[in-house]
Amino acid sequence: MGLTVPSLAGKVSCTGMGGSGVVCEVVKAFYPLRTDDPDVLIAVSYSGNTWETVERAKQAMSQGIRVVAVTSGGELSKLTREVILVKQGNQPRYSFPYLFLPVVKMLRPDLIPEVVSGVDNARAVEVAKELLDFIGGRIPVFYGSKYLGVAKRFKQEINENAKYPAFFGEIPEVNHNEVESYTHGEGIAPIVLVGSEIDQVTAELINAFVLKVTGMRDVSFLIQVAGFLSVELAKKLGEDPSKLTKIPEGKRLAQ
Ligand code: F6R
Repeated sequence: MGLTVPSLAGKVSCTGMGGSGVVCEVVKAFYPLRTDDPDVLIAVSYSGNTWETVERAKQAMSQGIRVVAVTSGGELSKLTREVILVKQGNQPRYSFPYLFLPVVKMLRPDLIPEVVSGVDNARAVEVAKELLDFIGGRIPVFYGSKYLGVAKRFKQEINENAKYPAFFGEIPEVNHNEVESYTHGEGIAPIVLVGSEIDQVTAELINAFVLKVTGMRDVSFLIQVAGFLSVELAKKLGEDPSKLTKIPEGKRLAQ
């Protein structure tokens, strides 16, 4: 990949909201991000104008923390000199690959070939259709431990593209509460991202649809599955995947 990224040293944190923030969540499976006292903060915001992300970056800079922005422009691109500029004019969630690749390249450049080799549109459509059948008219809940970020991406894609409820839950925490709720769980479609034995235990307890994940290649593949699934569900519900009303309204009201 010809993309030039700054090299990072020390303790790294990553921040962002929604379709941008999930980049940080997914990468956590492969890199131990810090939540406090970082030397470097990666601030991901497609628009560069999301106030939560801009404020966090400003606060970090005022504390002398190095900030690397991954953005298509906006206020964030003017805050720091270390900016990785991505292509403009998309919905943030559709820009996941453009936001994700530079972050992986900064933190785990060795994994870039796996990200690329996980791309398989035809197979992703098949898996998305199997999932759609499994979900039926129920509410999907995605569970994961190491791959919780991928579970969150599925949830977000369904919420935003299909305008449909979806949730995610963290293993092993759910094994101590939520698994009991499946006694009356007829309306829920549980899906587990199985990357370890404990994930498999959860999947069996709640009779879930299993998506196996063994590394970055599978993560890359499942990100595509999430996209196709949400778009197929949008079609089924008669929704326009690209149209948003409440998120922009929320941003306007929060200003
Ligand atoms: C919209 C979307 C949202 C945004 C979020 C933050 O497509 O995915 O979840 O990502 O509102 O905005 P940005 O990404 O511009 O910081």
